[in-house]
Amino acid sequence: MALGCPYGTHRVLEPAGSLPQPAWRLPQPAWRVNNDPAIYDNEILIDVERLNIDSASFRQISEEAGGDPDRIAAAIRKIVDERGKMHNPVTGSGGMLIGTVREVGPALQADARPGDRIATLVSLSLTPLRIEAIHRVLPEADQVEVTGTAILFESGIYAKLPEDIPDNLALAALDVCGAPAQTARLVKPGSRVLILGGGGKSGLLCSYAARRAGAAEVICFEYSDESLARARRLGAAHRYIQGDARDALGVMRAVGEKVDLTLSLVNLPGAELGAILATKPTGMIYFFSMATSFTAAALGAEGVGSQVEMLIGNGYYPGHAELTLDLLRESPELRALFEEVYA
Ligand SMILES: NC(=O)c1ccc[n+]([C@@H]2O[C@H](COP(=O)([O-])OP(=O)(O)OC[C@H]3O[C@@H](n4cnc5c(N)ncnc54)[C@H](OP(=O)(O)O)[C@@H]3O)[C@@H](O)[C@H]2O)c1
Repeated sequence: MALGCPYGTHRVLEPAGSLPQPAWRLPQPAWRVNNDPAIYDNEILIDVERLNIDSASFRQISEEAGGDPDRIAAAIRKIVDERGKMHNPVTGSGGMLIGTVREVGPALQADARPGDRIATLVSLSLTPLRIEAIHRVLPEADQVEVTGTAILFESGIYAKLPEDIPDNLALAALDVCGAPAQTARLVKPGSRVLILGGGGKSGLLCSYAARRAGAAEVICFEYSDESLARARRLGAAHRYIQGDARDALGVMRAVGEKVDLTLSLVNLPGAELGAILATKPTGMIYFFSMATSFTAAALGAEGVGSQVEMLIGNGYYPGHAELTLDLLRESPELRALFEEVYA
C-alpha cells in the first residue's frame, strides 16, 4: 500500500520533505509540488471545474494583467504550471475549488465517493493542481472555469456541495467561510463592531453574522460607491462610512468612539494601522485579509501603545462551512446579493 504523508509532504518537490504550503519565494519551502493525478492510497482525486482565486491574489494578478481576461488566464496558468498549485508568488495566497470526486484512495476513511460534488476547504496554495484548459475568467467573481485535476491529502477537508444552493454561489461563500464563523464566535451581544471592506464577499457575510450575534452597532467601512451600495442594500450595518482603509487617521476619525472588535476584510495591503487606531486597546482585531502584514500589525500596535489583541484569520473553524451556507439560507437579502455576482 502506497501511503503518503497525511499533510502532503510526500508531494513537495522543492525542497523535498517540507510542508506543501508554508512559503512562497525561493529558496523558502514548498516552491513546487507534484501534481501527478496518480493518487496515493490515502488521497482523493478531483476533476476540477472551477477555481475561486483568493481575492487578494486575483486583484494582484488582475492589476498586473491590466484587467485583460486572457492575460489573467495566462498568469494563472503560468503559476500552476510552474508550481503544481495555484500559489500566488506575490500574495502567497491561494483560493478554493469545486469539482467531482473521481477516485478515493482505499486507505482513506472518508465519506466522499466517486461522483460526489465537493468544494475543497483547504487552500489552493497547498493543493496539487493540474490545469488542462482555462475556459473562462469571471473577473466579477474572482473565479475561473477550468478543466483539470486536483489532489486532496488525508488531512484535507472538503464540503459536499449542497443541493439547494447553486455551486458557484456555494464556492464563493465557502471560500471565506472562516470569517463569518469567527465573527459569530467573537461578537459579544451589545458590542460595537467595525468591518473594513464590509461590502465585499466576506464583508456581507460578516456584517450579517455580527448583527445576528447581537452587536449593538455594526459599522461598515467601504471604498467604492458600488461596494458601499451593496452593503446598504443588505442593510445589516447600523452605520456606513465611505473611505480608504489605508488612511489610518481617516479611519479613526470617521469611526469616532473606538470599537470593541474590528474585522479587516480588505483585499489590499496597508489597512493594519486603521484597524488598530479604530479599536479599543482592550479590544480585538480579526485580520482575515491575506494582504495583512504581521510586521505592520505587530509594530504598528506597539508604535501607538495599544495592547489590542490581534487574531490571524485562520480560514478554518469547526462547522464553518455549514454555518456560512445557513446564513445564505436564512437571509433572502444576503442570498440575492450573492446570486447577482456569483450564481
Ligand atoms: N484568512 C483566510 O483564510 C482567507 C480566506 C479567503 C479570503 N481571505 C482574504 O480576505 C479578504 C477578503 O476577501 P473577500 O473574498 O471578501 O474579498 P472581496 O469580496 O474582494 O472584498 C474586499 C473588499 O475590500 C474592499 N476594499 C478594497 N480596498 C479598500 C480600501 N482601501 N478601503 C476600504 N475598503 C476596501 C473592497 O471594496 P472595493 O470593491 O471598493 O474595492 C471589497 O469590498 C481578502 O484579502 C482575501 O484574500 C482570507
